[in-house]
Amino acid sequence: MLVQRMCMLGFLLIVGIFEIDVVYGYNRPPPRQTPIIPNSDQNSHLLQQVHISAVGQNKMRISWITDIPTSAKVWYGPSPSANASSATGTTSSYRFLLYNSGQIHDVVIGPLNPNTLYYYRLGDPPSSQTYNFKTLPSQLPIKFAVVGDLGQTDWTRSTLEHVAKSNYDMLILPGDLSYADLVQDLWDSFGRLVEPLASQRPWMVTQGNHEVEKIPLIHRTPFTAYNARWRMPFEESGSSSNLYYSFDVAAVHVIMLGSYTQFDSSSPQYNWLKTDLQKVNRANTPWIVVLIHAPWYSSNTAHQGEFESVEMKASMEDLLYQARVDVVFAGHVHAYERFTRVYKDKANSCGPVHITIGDGGNREGLATKYIDPKPEISMFREASFGHGILEVVNASHAQWTWHQNDKDEAVVSDSIWLTSFSSNPSCNQ
Ligand SMILES: [Fe+2]
Repeated sequence: MLVQRMCMLGFLLIVGIFEIDVVYGYNRPPPRQTPIIPNSDQNSHLLQQVHISAVGQNKMRISWITDIPTSAKVWYGPSPSANASSATGTTSSYRFLLYNSGQIHDVVIGPLNPNTLYYYRLGDPPSSQTYNFKTLPSQLPIKFAVVGDLGQTDWTRSTLEHVAKSNYDMLILPGDLSYADLVQDLWDSFGRLVEPLASQRPWMVTQGNHEVEKIPLIHRTPFTAYNARWRMPFEESGSSSNLYYSFDVAAVHVIMLGSYTQFDSSSPQYNWLKTDLQKVNRANTPWIVVLIHAPWYSSNTAHQGEFESVEMKASMEDLLYQARVDVVFAGHVHAYERFTRVYKDKANSCGPVHITIGDGGNREGLATKYIDPKPEISMFREASFGHGILEVVNASHAQWTWHQNDKDEAVVSDSIWLTSFSSNPSCNQ
């Protein structure tokens, strides 16, 4: 393992002259350390890095990793014995330079009852360790935790502790998960760090630039680790890629877009998005929430003018506006910022609210410099780590709160009530 990591570090120096990430042209405050989460559990060679994700309205995908080949089988049920039902899935692995991943197991279980606590055990024979999760509500209200650019520092720990106390139903993440940045052991460490939360509530993610992990000439396939480890329910929404997909939960249509795959008007993603938006029935899902990574609106000096922000916005903003998308969450900029309803750079009462929430706690620190004067469309901006909670109360109202990590305490620093476009006749077409 040590030799492997030294080889990788040497390698990073070499590939650094190519491209892995963007260039940062601003000063960040000192980040907190990255604690490597050791593989300390005696049973962890059998199973570790458990996380779950929603599949359709009443199924759940259970994902975990073992060091050695074992059965991709999940035993589950509403009692702690977890033996009412079982399901079998698939196992995969990947190679990244000198690194060989463990056995990555994916099993979809269900149908499940809504808002119900289920217990589950993994493998065959089933593990002695029992996990549990709560299924999603079938109708409103629903509470989303929103956190971007998470990483795995002590700031990340603080954020996760705060999120865990929020009694959320589903976590949605607009990209940049582990900050492994080619060092594949850090994906394993990240999986162990988030397991206590991600094994109990569905985590739905999309990709950021730190998920690309492409090395010119040497490892040309992007998203190798991300796609293998964080499989999302893309087929169910007619998408052909794990990098963009959508799903309905309670009365919310959530769209996860890919900022680091093609998004021009002739791209598969664009055509899929157009079709997906046309299929939305606001009577069933009065809310539409979209996640991207590189923000389309930002008054922070970090990451200004990047291709993924400028060109994706130019390509897709009309689609979101015409579909009356309610909220767009982004990450990438390590700070918090909330815009008013906006379209084509101007306040527009029929445009989405754009919110940047790239402040999960990653090792790169905060983006502290803002463009002055503050644009009129920017309603609140602050460079601090934290997380957001979107509580969709009913078909017409949702409350958004931003919880700032203030000396390790979560402090509500921004709060606003949102009204859905489906309840707003003046914007209904
Ligand atoms: Fe990013």
